[in-house]
Amino acid sequence: MNDAARSASIYDFMMRVLDRIMIKGWRKELWAMVRGPLVLEAGVGTGLSVDFYKDEFHITALDNNHSFLEKARHRAEIKGKNADFIFGDIESLPFDANIFDTALTTFLFCQLENPQLGMAELNRVLKPGGQLLLLEHVRTYGTFGRLLEVISGPLYKMTGDHIARDTEEIAAKAGFVNISAKDLFTRGVIIISAEKS
Ligand SMILES: C[S@@+](CC[C@H](N)C(=O)[O-])C[C@H]1O[C@@H](n2cnc3c(N)ncnc32)[C@H](O)[C@@H]1O
Repeated sequence: MNDAARSASIYDFMMRVLDRIMIKGWRKELWAMVRGPLVLEAGVGTGLSVDFYKDEFHITALDNNHSFLEKARHRAEIKGKNADFIFGDIESLPFDANIFDTALTTFLFCQLENPQLGMAELNRVLKPGGQLLLLEHVRTYGTFGRLLEVISGPLYKMTGDHIARDTEEIAAKAGFVNISAKDLFTRGVIIISAEKS
């Protein structure tokens, strides 16, 4: 096993543990909101949401990590789920404008170098009236929020993860409308839904 495949396996193992504890229920809730038929899952990772892919959707699953994408493709195959797995960068999506009915991400925006560009790209590839769905951990408020702000710098240096991003504001700046957020965990993990105008 090479280093990339090993890190995909380690990531997959850790995420499966977290999925068991709490994330899987959140994924289920997010996917219950998806409108098809054409759906883009950006940053699919190792495919931990493929359980929720419905036969009536045509799903395009994209990631910029070959090993993760390979694991996702394999998982979908085992579970008998159909999707197109495509290598690509959310900050420069390899699709024409106005294609998808829903574009969704789970725990991606905390990782992006340029989240505003990624959000603009999701806006570009959605049809007018298309749906944006994000399950993300974001900036939160109160004492817990302040604590996270304090550790967010050092944590970013260690993990490359921004734990205190205002992803709703990023969606608004990209032109999305009817933005709403559902709190899942201390207002630090939320589902954001919005529409392309
Ligand atoms: C924290 S993981 C989440 C994976 C998956 N969505 C999940 O919930 O398990 C973030 C994923 O986004 C991918 N990613 C990071 N930056 C990306 C980019 N610019 N374009 C596409 N995918 C990206 C990573 O390779 C990784 O698979």
